[in-house]
Amino acid sequence: MTDEFDGLEKQIMAAMRKVYTETVIDHAMNPKNADRIAHADGFGRITGPCGDTMEIWLKVNNGTIVGATFSTDGCSTTVACGSMATEIIKGEDVAQALAISPSDVLEALGGLPEDNHHCALLAANTVKAAVKDYIAIRKEPWKKAYRKC
Ligand code: FES
Repeated sequence: MTDEFDGLEKQIMAAMRKVYTETVIDHAMNPKNADRIAHADGFGRITGPCGDTMEIWLKVNNGTIVGATFSTDGCSTTVACGSMATEIIKGEDVAQALAISPSDVLEALGGLPEDNHHCALLAANTVKAAVKDYIAIRKEPWKKAYRKC
C-alpha cells in the first residue's frame, strides 16, 4: 500500500513539475506567512473574478513592512501567489509595497501558466488594498475600530 502511495505521489509531482516551477510548488506546498496578524496596521480582502478571496495583514514600523501574512480560500496557485507576494513586501517601505505588480509575483515564482496569471493579480491587488488600508488608518485612526478582520 505504501509503495502504491509513493508511486502515485511521484506521478503527481512529475505531472506538477511539467506545469509549475519548483518555486511555485514549494510555495504552494509549504506556504510562507500563512497566518493572521492580530491588531494589524493594514488589512486587505479582495475577491477576484474567479470567486476566490485573499486576505492580507500588515505590520508596519516607521513606514517599513515588518510583517505580512495572508489567507486564501483559493487553489494552490493562489496560495503560492499569496505566499510570494507577502515575502516580496517584507522589509519594503510602504510606497514600494503599494507599487507591487502581478508581474513582480509572476517573476519571483519563475512564471505561471497563462490560466493562472489572475492568481498573481489577486495577490498584488490584495497587497495594495492592505497598504491603502494602512494609509487610510494613519490619516483617520478611528476607522480601525470599524474594520472587519
Ligand atoms: Fe482563483 Fe487563482 S484560481 S485566484
